[in-house]
Amino acid sequence: MPRIICVAGARPNYMKIKPVMDALEARGAEVVLVHTGQHYDESMNDVFFRDLGIRSPDRYLGAGSGSHAVQTGRVMEAFEPLLDELVPDAVVVVGDINSTLACALVTAKAGPLLAHVEAGLRSRDWSMPEEVNRVATDRLSDYLLAPSPDAAANLRSEGYREDQIHVVGNVMIDTLFANLDRARRSDVLARYGLTRGGYGLVTLHRPANVDDPDALRGLLKALGEIAGRCPLLLPVHPRAAERLSEIGVPGGIRLVPAAGYLDFIALQDSARVVLTDSGGIQEETTALGVPCVTLRENTERPITVEQGTNVLAGTDPDRITATVHRVLDDPPAPRCPELWDGRASERIAQVLLEGGSAATRPRPTDLVAGTGLVAGTVPVV
Ligand code: UD1
Repeated sequence: MPRIICVAGARPNYMKIKPVMDALEARGAEVVLVHTGQHYDESMNDVFFRDLGIRSPDRYLGAGSGSHAVQTGRVMEAFEPLLDELVPDAVVVVGDINSTLACALVTAKAGPLLAHVEAGLRSRDWSMPEEVNRVATDRLSDYLLAPSPDAAANLRSEGYREDQIHVVGNVMIDTLFANLDRARRSDVLARYGLTRGGYGLVTLHRPANVDDPDALRGLLKALGEIAGRCPLLLPVHPRAAERLSEIGVPGGIRLVPAAGYLDFIALQDSARVVLTDSGGIQEETTALGVPCVTLRENTERPITVEQGTNVLAGTDPDRITATVHRVLDDPPAPRCPELWDGRASERIAQVLLEGGSAATRPRPTDLVAGTGLVAGTVPVV
């Protein structure tokens, strides 16, 4: 029975790791859930474990908050002895957070096979910490589990080998579909006095949007103008809380505490429009068929624009208001990319558990054909 460590560290990881754990266990793997502790609050962590029915982590690393280097380093230091102790056959990391990269780095040097769920996404914005994490994690991974063909195309253009790349679909959508009925029974709309289609939902947490007061002021100006037409609800991420209260929000925007998984899916499902700088929300709105306006200059999820309900508005206040008005007047038709069908984690389990013996499995060493870095080109003398 193969032993597989599944790593989770922060809010956007939990809904991705849960279906992968279930699919691996259903096929007979021994799964060890390691929680790095990057997120730890009730509202950022505990409620997701409850809502999603995730068991308590088998190991908790307690990394907590800190600068990028401090947080990444703490996770690495705590994860390394765990690999020595547990000697897993494989480690599965998801997404693009600091914990993802930290555990990938340790695994690559320790020897177990490394699988990256959500491989190949690229914003091509190197100022985004997640982009560094994505590119570096992919380079360290044996298995590149891509959510969509565009992600696989990125990997091919970077020179990864075909035997490493698997287009498996989107695990976040597995969790969304598995929980949608329960989410629709949430009383969150009644609690906030909202009606279906009667409000817009906003999330802001990217450092580029919330750490710089001028950038945040510009966004709030645009949101204030939009709120004149469509009242807005903004569940507050802890990263943005202090700055939002310093600057103050215009009328028509209601700040509420960060929501749990089921409440937040219910809020998205009934929103007239969603305005966000999150990555996962671009995907969930696409699967739900709800119009989404992304408050960023780029997206690592272009498929949600090309084959979903997402519109990339940028961060210029005038462009944001013009885009939102256009979307409210003429909402994009609901469409959902192929393989976002609720079965991505089954495909992942199949790849990981039926991929042949360890000896025949792909290793990252001799990849990158096409970049000039072809292994074995130095003649043995
Ligand atoms: C991290 C991820 C980001 C992801 C986001 C989801 C990286 C580089 N970024 O960003 O990709 O979209 O999580 O939320 O890994 N805090 C709390 N309680 C918590 C956790 C954090 O109050 O449980 C506060 C702390 O003040 C902390 C700040 O939020 O310093 C930022 O947390 P951190 O994990 O560093 O990054 P996020 O902005 O959450």
